[in-house]
Amino acid sequence: MSDFVNPSEEIKNNAYVKDYEKLYKDSLEHPDAFWENVAKELFWYKPWTKVIESKHPYYDWFVGGQTNIVANALDRWQKTEKKDQLALVWEGQDGKVVRYTYQQLHEQVSRAANALKSLGVKKGDRVSIYMPRIPEQTIVMLASAKIGAIHTVVYSGFSVQALKSRIEDAESKIVITADGYHFRDKLVETKKTVDDAIKDNPAVKKVLVVKRTGNPIAFTEGKDIWWEELVSKQDSICPTEILDANDPLFILYTSGSTGTPKGVIHAHGGYMVGVYITAKYIFNLRSNDVFWCAADPGWITGHSYIVYSPFINGVTNFIYEGPPDYPDAGKWWSMIEKYKITKFYTAPTAIRALMKYGDAIPQKYNLSSLKILGSVGEPINPEAWRWYYRVIGKEKCPIMDTWWQTETGMHIISPLPTSPLKPGSAGKPFFGIKADVVDEKGTPVAVNTQGYLVLKKPWPAMFKDVYKNSKKYTDLYWGKIPGTYFTGDFAKRDSDGYFWILGRNDDVMKVSGYRFGSAELESAFVAHPSVAEAAVIGKPHEIKGESIKAFVILKVGVQPTDELKNELKQQVRKLIGPIATPDEIEFVPALPKTRSGKIMRRVLKAKELGQDLGDTSTLEG
Ligand code: PRX
Repeated sequence: MSDFVNPSEEIKNNAYVKDYEKLYKDSLEHPDAFWENVAKELFWYKPWTKVIESKHPYYDWFVGGQTNIVANALDRWQKTEKKDQLALVWEGQDGKVVRYTYQQLHEQVSRAANALKSLGVKKGDRVSIYMPRIPEQTIVMLASAKIGAIHTVVYSGFSVQALKSRIEDAESKIVITADGYHFRDKLVETKKTVDDAIKDNPAVKKVLVVKRTGNPIAFTEGKDIWWEELVSKQDSICPTEILDANDPLFILYTSGSTGTPKGVIHAHGGYMVGVYITAKYIFNLRSNDVFWCAADPGWITGHSYIVYSPFINGVTNFIYEGPPDYPDAGKWWSMIEKYKITKFYTAPTAIRALMKYGDAIPQKYNLSSLKILGSVGEPINPEAWRWYYRVIGKEKCPIMDTWWQTETGMHIISPLPTSPLKPGSAGKPFFGIKADVVDEKGTPVAVNTQGYLVLKKPWPAMFKDVYKNSKKYTDLYWGKIPGTYFTGDFAKRDSDGYFWILGRNDDVMKVSGYRFGSAELESAFVAHPSVAEAAVIGKPHEIKGESIKAFVILKVGVQPTDELKNELKQQVRKLIGPIATPDEIEFVPALPKTRSGKIMRRVLKAKELGQDLGDTSTLEG
């Protein structure tokens, strides 16, 4: 047992879950009873008649039940003392602070909901949100949910082409944005990006604009509307739409191994139950917690563990607008000290970047309020884990390395605060989750052997479908190994039953925790007039986890120059976003392909890393 890091007595005494093994066993034997008991902790307008209904691979949860996630996040607190507790504390990169109690947040959300209604937004309509990390971003997501509309948030680090295709696929009639924001010292013109993204899209009728910077923007009267003007004149009471448990809550686009990003659909009831209980148990949430998930609400981590589950659990939720190391590498640590953060949740890429600055910077701050730390989005290497544990958590805060996905909606594999921890391992499956590591036929592999990570039982926060593309849902996720959910990750399980996530087994990359499919990046290269063909791979990177390398075949007669490389980098930044900037571009005369013409990226990657090429029997020529 020497390789375990054990929880302190204090953590053990204060945890909700004391005996994981027993509860886990019970939850697998009686999953309906487990999930039903969780759902009963929440508010429902009408109880369900059936916990789960299987139309494999489609599952409906809490069938017949009526609820609304906002009824649990905000409404139910209004008749309790919690209405006067701080719900949201926000600090801008410029030092501006906004504080809302549960009552004030409820009023703000109601006003925003009435504003959406005044623009004609109804139940089931898609609402595109492209905003910086400001309070209105969270408010408008909650407002959309409150009236039964479906929000579809595009992260503000994406640019024109990525935004355009997502707005078009969702068929949104309204987009909500800001005039701009400052990222470090650079002005990012979000409104301009929206204008470019919708210029050929007559379906978008209104653009609601929050004033964040006051920088001049193009403003089309009748179409563009200032948030402040519209929202401030709305009534602060807005009835919450009573919804079916399986009515959609949001669509979030995410990259897969092939084609364009997929619109992952989540529904109110099951998602609400899943995010509520995982946040509660894994972060041991209590009323007096000040919770900081440093992700952006624009990603699934932000949807589940900023916008929804902290409020459903009734904690004080903190959001900081800026990056971790601006204007200096102590910024995040100073926020922990200032707001007395108790539970802090971030990604390994940020930990590795901050670790590089050494121990002295975090040591300048009082981090003693911290009780639990979290990690998400990519494998955390043991060295970063130990640094986070020692220097930030002072060897008293357990690290919850949570493995999950946009599609799973909630944490799937994670330690609990009482778990003995192994640095670098995501621990064991959450209650009701049956995870396994199998070969391509679905047979479990031996202990400590790499295989495909699959899930063998449904869970309530699972996605409902791929928007307008059910074939992708059935084939890509449920068709690879019939009867099981195929995660796309490699993993191994050790002799203690701990899972070790070993990265993706498809053409998906995790760059600084951001998820990119090779196809989306390659199409940005091919859109350049000089490029004939492109293939993109992820390479191990010390801080970012993976970096992007592109192999490019130029059109006949085009000269391979450094200027062209720069131009191509700019092209990808412009079309997809600065977060997708390739690190390396290599001009090549040909690409390895199968006889049927598919690019073999794994061959490119193996060559690049000097590894064995594996099975190349389908390689052309
Ligand atoms: O490869 C896994 C990695 O992130 C993928 C899901 O990405 P996304 O949908 O963007 O969601 C990220 C936030 C939940 C997974 O297939 N991943 C996520 N968490 C971990 C991880 N890899 C290793 N360890 C984790 N804790």
